[in-house]
Amino acid sequence: MDFKLDLLPEEKRNHGCLKGLETLSFGQMRSDHMFVCEYEDGEWKDGRIVPYQDFSIAPGAMVLHYGQAIFEGAKAFQRDGELYTWRFDKNAERLNESARILCMPEIPVDLQIDALNRLLDVEREWCPKIEESSLYIRPFMFATQDSLGVHPSSKYTFCIMLSPSGPYYAGGFSNTVTLLVTEKFHRATTGGTGAAKACGNYAASLRAQEFAKSKNCAQVLYLDVTNTYLEEVGAMNHFHIKKDGSIIIPEFTDTILKSITSQSVLELFPNARQERIKIADFLEQIENGEIIEAGGFGTAAVITPVGKYVTDEGKEYVVGNGEIGEHTRAIYEKYVSMQRGDTEAPEGWLAKV
Ligand code: PLP
Ligand code: COI
Repeated sequence: MDFKLDLLPEEKRNHGCLKGLETLSFGQMRSDHMFVCEYEDGEWKDGRIVPYQDFSIAPGAMVLHYGQAIFEGAKAFQRDGELYTWRFDKNAERLNESARILCMPEIPVDLQIDALNRLLDVEREWCPKIEESSLYIRPFMFATQDSLGVHPSSKYTFCIMLSPSGPYYAGGFSNTVTLLVTEKFHRATTGGTGAAKACGNYAASLRAQEFAKSKNCAQVLYLDVTNTYLEEVGAMNHFHIKKDGSIIIPEFTDTILKSITSQSVLELFPNARQERIKIADFLEQIENGEIIEAGGFGTAAVITPVGKYVTDEGKEYVVGNGEIGEHTRAIYEKYVSMQRGDTEAPEGWLAKV
């Protein structure tokens, strides 16, 4: 696809606002431009890079009524004046997996990569240089056909926007978080859309998240609908570390998002493996010291250490001494140093823009 470029003149670009900043929050700032294209009559067309701006969609656009929408989250890092994306091909493939689950059209992976690289090329100055920050990449697709019947839309918009961002959890890696283990709410059910990065999954998680906040917890650790197995967290996969140093990630099912961070850890650490984990065993093993560390994996969350779990009854389970453990720190340091290009990453994981 040929892309049209409608770029702001240099004097109207705003990347100078990054200068002098010492911290950045997650997802608040926007870069100057975005990539957009539309799907109609069975094909993707009109690829363009334009100033960041509002969309115009019909009040009857299906996304507004039936929530047919998916998204991705990826990151770009800068090193020695060059920009690098981290495993974006995996995000592009997962967007298509989500599209299949939501009956939306796929977008060729090469088209997604090309569009992102062209956008990043004009937004190089937007990659922050602050510690624990990056240029967060948010591709997304939504249904635009003006129709009130419930069926897959015939029209879609795909967009990539960028947000210079700091850590997802305030304070970044220096803090542990507390998770609520609740039997009251569930994120996904078998045969549903849990394995897709579907916007509706996040809308459905808000009530549980607010409930968690009311209990002074950062997020919910979701269980399966039978309240037997541990699944994942609202914006990250889950992991724990056993006394022997093994890293255990819940087995991917159709109710868990296949985290690219989890998959990377599984490839990088020979002592990492996946298991179906019973919540009762998990909590018991925290108490008897068999589990010594725990946390979450995600693009935005990176490696987030969990210090404590709280149940609906208010029972608290402190992991180890409740602080960041040495294994979690080692995973974080290895992963982040590969993203930054300080340690060599496997072939193709860091791609120069
Ligand atoms: N699980 C959920 C529900 C998420 O929203 C995310 C974030 O993307 C993850 C897991 C982590 O996935 P990834 O490592 O690919 O970002
Ligand atoms: C990401 O980690 O990229 C995500 O999409 C999580 C998000 C809900 C902030």
